Amino acid sequence: MTLATDAPVTPAVAAHPDVESRLLIGGGQREDLAAYRAAGGYAAVDDAERLLDEVDEAAVRGRGGAAFPIATKIRTVRGGRGVPVAVANGEEGEPASVKDRWLLRTRPHLVLDGLRLASLMVGADELHVYVSDPASAESVTRALEELRGAGVWDAEVAVTLVEPTYVAGEETAAVQAIDGGPALPTDKPPRPFEAGVKGRPTLVSNVETLANLPLVQRLGATGYRGLGTYASPGTFLLTLSGCAATGLYEVPFGVTLTAVLTWLGEDPAQVDGVLMGGYFSGVLGRQVLDVPLEYDALKALHSGLGCGAVGVLSAGTCPVEVSAAVMAYFARENAGQCGSCFNGTAAMSAVLDALRDSRAEAEDVERLTGWSVRLRGRGACGTLDGATNVAAALLREYPDAVRTHLDGTCATCGAADEQPVPAAPFAVAPPTAA
Ligand SMILES: Cc1cc2nc3c(=O)[nH]c(=O)nc-3n(C[C@H](O)[C@H](O)[C@H](O)COP(=O)(O)O)c2cc1C
Ligand code: SF4
Repeated sequence: MTLATDAPVTPAVAAHPDVESRLLIGGGQREDLAAYRAAGGYAAVDDAERLLDEVDEAAVRGRGGAAFPIATKIRTVRGGRGVPVAVANGEEGEPASVKDRWLLRTRPHLVLDGLRLASLMVGADELHVYVSDPASAESVTRALEELRGAGVWDAEVAVTLVEPTYVAGEETAAVQAIDGGPALPTDKPPRPFEAGVKGRPTLVSNVETLANLPLVQRLGATGYRGLGTYASPGTFLLTLSGCAATGLYEVPFGVTLTAVLTWLGEDPAQVDGVLMGGYFSGVLGRQVLDVPLEYDALKALHSGLGCGAVGVLSAGTCPVEVSAAVMAYFARENAGQCGSCFNGTAAMSAVLDALRDSRAEAEDVERLTGWSVRLRGRGACGTLDGATNVAAALLREYPDAVRTHLDGTCATCGAADEQPVPAAPFAVAPPTAA
């Protein structure tokens, strides 16, 4: 085994030199109310409609994985039946990502301000912050106490803390947990925008998405668009793992991985590919190095930026082993509610384990290929889609590695000492806020 990137690492935190730091602030200090207000936070909103138009013009896209435009979502939710509810989703069940917890721990007021603006635009009268990290819950609760009586915002925000799991951050799981049930996905329809918390139309937004709203208010759409690409404007939080520069970085959309790695002192020539978008998009070959990191360019490669987590496959890391470890994670962590997901992830995991150990036959790979297509869309939540992506990506991106594993001639695996398979490859521990 050659996968040496499983141990949680305490990451560095930095903003790319082209970014006048928008989401990350230096020093790892928790920003209190006074500091946030001094920087212009909690600014009055004269016209929520105009702000929504600015957000639309700024084309802020969801950072929770699907990249859906938040302005469109807000318009849909407020067009529903009943008074809307707004939820900040900071659960972050993805092992390779730390951005949401870092934002909540260090910039709780930026996130709460974003929730305030979202609730004004959507017309919500009930607000929630949903997390699984006790330190995030504590930071947000402190921020709400700071706001109490400060005459800034009469915030009534409920904080819900659940056990961390991979599926707990899925939006219907968040809704069910806030309503007092288990943090497990439910069947769709209805989706939260139709009937969410208490059956009311609910805006569920990732905390990084919300953190961008005060930036649009402050900079205006044109200023916000000063960084990033036309279709993916602004910056995003990149959780990089699998290399010495493991860390959380704020970068402009459209930057290449080569540029990021060079900035961080890593040698791009030593990179064989990546695990893209956390566990959801599977592996991606070396061509990723010079592709703009933005939603559409990665989609064109049949991959995705997801929540912005990128695990580097340094030279000598076997993509079959990485894919097998991620699939084993899905087989363990799926919620066990849907037969197709429970059985499908177990079956794909068994084939990938056999392939990794050079026990698989060509027919096994054929069955894996079939499942990677047929099982898509069959689960109640997207976990099974993530699992099919992992299988499809390996077969598409690394046919040679699949072949050498069928032959039992994988130079990487054959040369390495036996090491335990990591339970959560590329897992990163959140940095500790000062
Ligand atoms: C299995 C699964 C897990 C998810 N986990 C998270 C999560 O931890 N945090 C999050 O913001 N979104 C998560 N999502 C996406 C949410 O369902 C939802 O799309 C998102 O919170 C919407 O916010 P956005 O539009 O701002 O991206 C997950 C989706 C799936 C299918
Ligand atoms: S698709 Fe999988 S993870 Fe999602 S609800 Fe069904 S069993 Fe659970």
